[in-house]
Amino acid sequence: MSAAVTLTTLQRFKQQGEKIACVTSYDASFTCLLEQAGVDILLVGDSLGMVVQGHDSTLPVTMADMIYHSACVARAGNRALRIVDMPFMSYAGVAQALSNAGRLMRRGGAHMVKLEGGETVLESVRALVSHGIPVCAHLGLTPQSVHQLGGYRVQGRDQAGASRLLDDARRLEDAGAAALVLECVPVALAEQISAAVSMPTIGIGAGPHCDGQVLVLYDLLGITPGKRPAFSHNFLDDAADIPGALRAYVKAVKAGSFPDAAHSFA
Ligand code: KIV
Repeated sequence: MSAAVTLTTLQRFKQQGEKIACVTSYDASFTCLLEQAGVDILLVGDSLGMVVQGHDSTLPVTMADMIYHSACVARAGNRALRIVDMPFMSYAGVAQALSNAGRLMRRGGAHMVKLEGGETVLESVRALVSHGIPVCAHLGLTPQSVHQLGGYRVQGRDQAGASRLLDDARRLEDAGAAALVLECVPVALAEQISAAVSMPTIGIGAGPHCDGQVLVLYDLLGITPGKRPAFSHNFLDDAADIPGALRAYVKAVKAGSFPDAAHSFA
């Protein structure tokens, strides 16, 4: 087995131009398969509220849900870095963010926590990092704000929105964030942000120039009910079985062939 992935590994990948392969995971069995396929990061995403629990958004997901699924993943995980989402309204203030992130680390086996947003989370990011809790930021389409954003739509298409995202990325890095998920932003903007920050960017619907890619596991396997997001791809289409599909995804990300223009936003 190769060495465990740490923040230092991710930093080295960015510096050396090696793409980072990340997939969401919510249970022990898929965690084993994902690690065997060579995934670098397992994201215990609050997308579990939609693909596992059947809600129409991530808002109903609780801390208890995240601790439960994170612990399931941690029991099976060996090599990949585990990032765990802080659910909606679990980091509305600094004290609450510290307490809940601590629970995800202690009881959920998280290596890093992920928070959505820019300006509003800066103070919490500073506090978490100063207490030894690594933070992954999340900008662009932030699903916990779906009602404020008016739906699941591409962000940063106009000049003002693009400048705000670039500025937020820089400020989050200054506050201590060590990685950044960019969701549903135009290719050129994601490229600009990835070049402007030294933390690795992990894109989803953000084009090929991010330092890594993430997909929701159930989208990658084509088993999400309803409409598949335009930026995702069913890797099971051209694979003999699930392990083959997971390997094909990792290979495509590492080779820089996924996402292509058809799975990105201009
Ligand atoms: O919850 C999740 O799965 C996520 C990814 C979509 C990035 O945050």
